[in-house]
Amino acid sequence: MAWILTISSLILIWISSLCKIFQASWSPMKNSFLTNGGALQKRNVLLVIAHPDDESMFFTPTIGYLTSRGHNIHILCLSIGNADGKGSTRKLELHQACTILKVPVQNAKVLDHPDLQDGFGKVWNHTLLAKIIEDEMISHGINLIITFDDHGVSGHCNHRDVHFGVRKILNETSKVHVEGWELVSTNIFRKYSGPIDIWCSILYAMWHHRGLIQCLLNEHPERSYFAMAQHLSQWVWFRKLFVALSSYTYVNTLRKMT
Ligand SMILES: *[C@@H]1O[C@H](CO)[C@@H](O)[C@H](O)[C@H]1NC(C)=O
Ligand SMILES: *[C@@H]1O[C@H](CO)[C@@H](O)[C@H](O)[C@H]1NC(C)=O
Repeated sequence: MAWILTISSLILIWISSLCKIFQASWSPMKNSFLTNGGALQKRNVLLVIAHPDDESMFFTPTIGYLTSRGHNIHILCLSIGNADGKGSTRKLELHQACTILKVPVQNAKVLDHPDLQDGFGKVWNHTLLAKIIEDEMISHGINLIITFDDHGVSGHCNHRDVHFGVRKILNETSKVHVEGWELVSTNIFRKYSGPIDIWCSILYAMWHHRGLIQCLLNEHPERSYFAMAQHLSQWVWFRKLFVALSSYTYVNTLRKMT
């Protein structure tokens, strides 16, 4: 009997969390992120990722928030994700996902650098990363940069190296006005709690100083699924399951990199 009760309450919480998310999409939360006291200041944002599909798997709540508020978003993907030889296909898939995510295709750049190849054992040089990312920032007049935190959601070394590359730029150009935000990695229970994690994320943001932590609900969670489905070469059963169960489909918590 106890397990029936547990499962039905889980289902209830799951459904009410989804309701909360859809309610937010009908009447977007009064979120202050990047709204400077009501006046919308359009930003040139650079999202820095390691592999094609990181944007759809982890960052859709952030991308949706930014595009729906008219910010100009660029994506820099530092590898074509060639760990299993499907790199050229994966590059095209990223462009298809951009269409779903409402990011102009010409704003997405996918690099294939000999020293930055996809893989668990591959160490990416932080100085090289910083140089490449900085050049991209200059050429698009970027004033806001978003990337992984130092754990990189899944702990993948490429994600973590990308973080340190961005960190290095922010450390060394403190006088230039560039804001950096990192995607907060959560523990494994929160990571796979689907929409239920929005409650933890909302509480976490309330506990912390408002200006330093931002909780962004995905106003279009179905978009994560359709965007990820564009990555056909990756669209195997366990990734479909991941998209449904992952809290990153429903909410992103961003922390300001100070
Ligand atoms: C990292 O890259 C920089 C710039 O490209 C280079 O000067 C440096 O030697 C590289 N470091 C390593 C350990 O390869
Ligand atoms: C950036 O600065 C912080 C704090 O000063 C330091 O701990 C960190 O190692 C630096 N990171 C890089 C990549 O330079």
